[in-house]
Amino acid sequence: MLPIRISPSILSADFGKLAEEVAAISTADYVHVDVMDGHFVPNLTIGPIVIEAVRRATKLPLDVHLMIENAEQWVAVYAKAGADLIGVHVEACPHLHRTIGQIRELGKKACVVLNPATPIEAIEWVLRDVQQVLIMSVNPGFGGQKFIPSALEKITKLRRMIDERGYTVEIEVDGGIKIDNVEEVVRAGANVIVSGSGVFGTKDYAATIAELRRRGEAARRA
Ligand code: DX5
Ligand code: ZN
Repeated sequence: MLPIRISPSILSADFGKLAEEVAAISTADYVHVDVMDGHFVPNLTIGPIVIEAVRRATKLPLDVHLMIENAEQWVAVYAKAGADLIGVHVEACPHLHRTIGQIRELGKKACVVLNPATPIEAIEWVLRDVQQVLIMSVNPGFGGQKFIPSALEKITKLRRMIDERGYTVEIEVDGGIKIDNVEEVVRAGANVIVSGSGVFGTKDYAATIAELRRRGEAARRA
């Protein structure tokens, strides 16, 4: 059974004291880092220099979510900056199979990301080549949006598709996840939970991470 992994998104952290914020989530499993280019998504966030700084501030693996065009030109840069997992959007990669191959050749874990409107069939033929699929449960670009309920059915279908083929692929879900709804996301078949405002919008990050994990693990056993 795949472990529950909590990946707080620093998009909702206080960037004025980023090293402290990252240190305060040390009980998580990953640090989720949202890279936006202002083209693929209508927002501009951080690049490799900030990732290098995050890399120095934590021992946790960095789960880097690239929301950028021309991802194939950038994966090596983000790998060098300190990414451990690299997620690329199927909608932004015309040569997805090649881009995933590049990530793996760099020795990093490959993750393919689907927007809410993209069907899971779009990744059927790369499923054997990735360690993780990220299902977006909001339209990417901003933190603090509302969870889109159809993501649950999509997670269930994807879990079935992976299991039927006998692959070991983790399902990560990103957008609108908080303590209140983490259980249904895990019950649908996900094991990697991204939460931005759901963690950084609370007072005690460690307590929130522990509660997300507790509820996630209980839902998985149920
Ligand atoms: C959205 C980002 C998310 C975002 C999630 O484009 O990919 O990682 O930070 O934020 P919440 O958890 O607040 O919806
Ligand atoms: Zn993200």
